[in-house]
Amino acid sequence: MVNRGRRRFLWKGLGSTVALAAGTGLYAWRIEPHWVEFVQRALPIANLPPPLAGRTLVQLSDLHVGPRVDDDYVIGVFDRVRALAPDIVVFTGDFTENDRRMPAHARRVYARTPLGRLATVGVFGNHDYGPRWRHPELAGDLVPVLAECGIRVLRNEVVDVAGLDVVGLDDLWAKRFQPVAAFAHRDAAKPALVLSHNPDTVDAPGWLGYQGWILSGHTHGGQCKPPFLPPPLLPVRNRRYTSGEIEAPGGRRLYISRGVGHTLMARFNARPEVTVFTLQRA
Ligand SMILES: [Fe+2]
Repeated sequence: MVNRGRRRFLWKGLGSTVALAAGTGLYAWRIEPHWVEFVQRALPIANLPPPLAGRTLVQLSDLHVGPRVDDDYVIGVFDRVRALAPDIVVFTGDFTENDRRMPAHARRVYARTPLGRLATVGVFGNHDYGPRWRHPELAGDLVPVLAECGIRVLRNEVVDVAGLDVVGLDDLWAKRFQPVAAFAHRDAAKPALVLSHNPDTVDAPGWLGYQGWILSGHTHGGQCKPPFLPPPLLPVRNRRYTSGEIEAPGGRRLYISRGVGHTLMARFNARPEVTVFTLQRA
């Protein structure tokens, strides 16, 4: 009698554990990867031209257009961003899971890109450089495709947006990160904002005294992380660089978006993010 009661108790416990694991798996696979959070933040910039104060800048990161991310999901996010009528749209890398079929696929999806009223610019991430980040020709093929869709890719270049310098740094893991090339020819007194996919670039040399914001992505916020603990898989050397706002040395501030897409087909405790900044004079 006692044994039968204990057996029933154990089976019930096992059943609950299996149900909990299945429920968590289903949530991480089907729900959280598409449950986007629109994060609203102020972006105070020194010497910001007065006409830019109060304007909106939307950061989209790590869309990973390709076989693992649902196109309709990405286009749905684009539609929600377009409804905000942003002034500037920036992409901080990993537009794609790049391979030889990608240009046609990217053209289909990025044709629906929400465009900023003033500018739409971006930088590449490691995945834009194809398998093992070793295919600059694949990234090169994406440049005209994205340009047709209204997105200018900055490759260690600076573009002036209504008096604000937007500095776009190319990818670290693809060995294309060349900050000196980008910073050397700009007027340091001008207001600026930097886009750099990999937050580890903050600790690399070559910033030539730049002070101000750096918008990044790459980490996906850890993508799957246990509550109250650091994420076990974080593709950065500096483990402080998970997500959100982080103070960096030399008068710089880093903002790491959790990104829109995913590489593993799951997210847990790291919801996808679209960041909606309001520009302010610092
Ligand atoms: Fe990514």
